[in-house]
Amino acid sequence: MARRIALVNNKGGVGKSTTTVRLAEALAKAGTRVLVIDMDPQGNASRRLGWAYDTENPQNTISEAIQADRPGSVADAVQPIGWDVEYASRMALVPARLELENRMSEAGVVGAWRRLAKGLEGADAHFDYTLIDCPPSLFHLTQLALAAADSVVIVTEPEYDSAEAAGRVRDFVAQRAIELANPDLELVGVIINGVQNLASHTDQLAGIRQTFDGLVWDPVVRHRSLIVDADGDEVPLTEIRGEKAGEVRATYELLAQNLVKAVPTR
Ligand SMILES: Nc1ncnc2c1ncn2[C@@H]1O[C@H](COP(=O)(O)OP(=O)(O)O)[C@@H](O)[C@H]1O
Ligand SMILES: [Mg+2]
Repeated sequence: MARRIALVNNKGGVGKSTTTVRLAEALAKAGTRVLVIDMDPQGNASRRLGWAYDTENPQNTISEAIQADRPGSVADAVQPIGWDVEYASRMALVPARLELENRMSEAGVVGAWRRLAKGLEGADAHFDYTLIDCPPSLFHLTQLALAAADSVVIVTEPEYDSAEAAGRVRDFVAQRAIELANPDLELVGVIINGVQNLASHTDQLAGIRQTFDGLVWDPVVRHRSLIVDADGDEVPLTEIRGEKAGEVRATYELLAQNLVKAVPTR
């Protein structure tokens, strides 16, 4: 059974989707089988993995899988990613689109928060890791992810509001895991993204390391325009060129090693 990891922060724009996609890529390159679940109605991770909704032949997305409220329902929404690289064969996607917003209205329905956990039963058995890209809120869609996950990884920028939001995630996991019927849910790592040579970043980095005592993974991810380009062009990092391309690839490979160490495959 796959180890399920939710990538979370209670703030948008900190790099959750980028990190999900690039960790998945690095894990697949290293030989592991990775399923990415897009739990954000914005669908950014889906697009960056080269997926597009086909109005002529509509694919199932995570929204239909959750709506189905049936054990294993997610299997019907698993599909290939759109990249043309060898290791893409070890990656798969459960995409999202705006339609996922409609699942929000089910938040008050009895047991609705368990629907992703239920839908994943058996559906990710043939993957080593399931990475769940969460929306910036801690409300229903993220709670679905937290109820289904084994572990949480926080992604944060070294900035005040992002760090505070990261703290809210840690507290939420600590206080609500039992209520989500997932008492073993554990925060296993903090990835710091978008680091620049700024005094404020140096200060915030030190603060985050202190707050999350030992949970911060190294290396931190530097702010690199190559990352924006790769995300924008929907391409894997193996296809990016430029002075910093090697550094960017190596960063995610090392972070993927952190993940494997923190959450070994079963
Ligand atoms: N390390 C980085 N350096 C430069 N740009 C980045 C970096 N990480 C992410 N980005 C860009 O920042 C924007 C927000 O990232 P995204 O992953 O969408 O954040 P979130 O999912 O947390 O909302 C995107 O345009 C993305 O390409
Ligand atoms: Mg996102």
